[in-house]
Amino acid sequence: MKTIAFFDTKPYDKLYFDKINRHFGFNIHYFDVRLNEETAQLAKGADAVCAFVNDRITASVAHDLEQQHIKLIALRCAGYNNVDLKAVWQRIHVVRVPAYSPHSIAEHAVALLLCMTRSIHKAYNRVREGNFLLNGLTGGDLFGKTAGIVSTGKIGKITAAILHGIGMRILVYDKFPDVQWAQTLNAEYVDFEKICKESDVISLHAPLTPETFHMINKKTLALMKHNAVIINTGRGALIDTHALVNALKHQKIGGAGLDVYEEEEHYFFEDWSSQAVQDDTLARLLTFPNVIITGHQAFLTEEALSAIAQTTLENIEQFFKTGSPLPNEVCYQCSNIGSEKCKHTQQQACF
Ligand code: NAI
Repeated sequence: MKTIAFFDTKPYDKLYFDKINRHFGFNIHYFDVRLNEETAQLAKGADAVCAFVNDRITASVAHDLEQQHIKLIALRCAGYNNVDLKAVWQRIHVVRVPAYSPHSIAEHAVALLLCMTRSIHKAYNRVREGNFLLNGLTGGDLFGKTAGIVSTGKIGKITAAILHGIGMRILVYDKFPDVQWAQTLNAEYVDFEKICKESDVISLHAPLTPETFHMINKKTLALMKHNAVIINTGRGALIDTHALVNALKHQKIGGAGLDVYEEEEHYFFEDWSSQAVQDDTLARLLTFPNVIITGHQAFLTEEALSAIAQTTLENIEQFFKTGSPLPNEVCYQCSNIGSEKCKHTQQQACF
């Protein structure tokens, strides 16, 4: 029986993994702590580690895991920016869950947007205190406005379809455009600059890469409409948060709905309600009435949690049955083995 060292365990992880593991029979050792230089030794005796978005697989962690004969890092998430792929290359294989429920993230992005544009967050608090005044709650229709969708992968496409359903004009941007799909929504592929200039809503669904790092920055924020709303359910570092705070402070944009934050690692998924938040940027963001933050919760639906557990355990089972390369393996060269976009054949395997 193969053993999995499972890091950064939350009660909902255990619930869904235990349920799905009845069909697989792995020996899962759950650890509350995150995987990092100090905790890597906990993986001793395991065959694979299971990691999440804030576990850090640095070169040193990769080295420690290799010393402990760990063969596989099974990410229970889609993004893999927390893994030093160069360091693990030819040492430990990495698999991920490329899609669990793209609907859950897209619907959360739209929930943040509607909450923002109709001041639901303010109305909720006001009404609970018995204040039924409507002053200051005037919103704006989305119908007829322009949505700029940044990256049209699985999540971006669904978000675009929902906003198209609301009656928005859809502009899209992607490094690898899918023109045929765009036609189905009357969506137009444009450059990122046009997205910034013409969109009333900009929703970020790009993976975090050196190219997309801080794509929302002082320069691109300056191009935006004064009432533009930015929604980020992608990765925090797509946005230069200091530049965002500055734009919000000077009312250069209309607001932001954020499920991710570039320095989220220390705060998100933890209870900080009785302590002072030391991160001044996060604290400042929380003061704006036109900023809504959720703590990386977009994936948290029953459907997504079941699918994450199912695919993660399938990935692990497949690896120990057939070995690499696997459809959900992450390619070192283009970070995308198994995907149609990976130009590296499995024979030339990046591993
Ligand atoms: P996907 O792999 O289906 O799509 C990614 C898209 O980004 C592709 O169309 C690709 O061509 C495009 N892309 C790649 N490099 C680009 C660049 N330099 N500029 C513009 N576009 C580029 O991924 P999916 O499932 O749509 O997820 C997108 C991202 O959402 C993930 O990478 C992850 O970071 C984030 N995510 C967040 C979650 C949350 O709970 N908040 C949950 C799941 C994913």
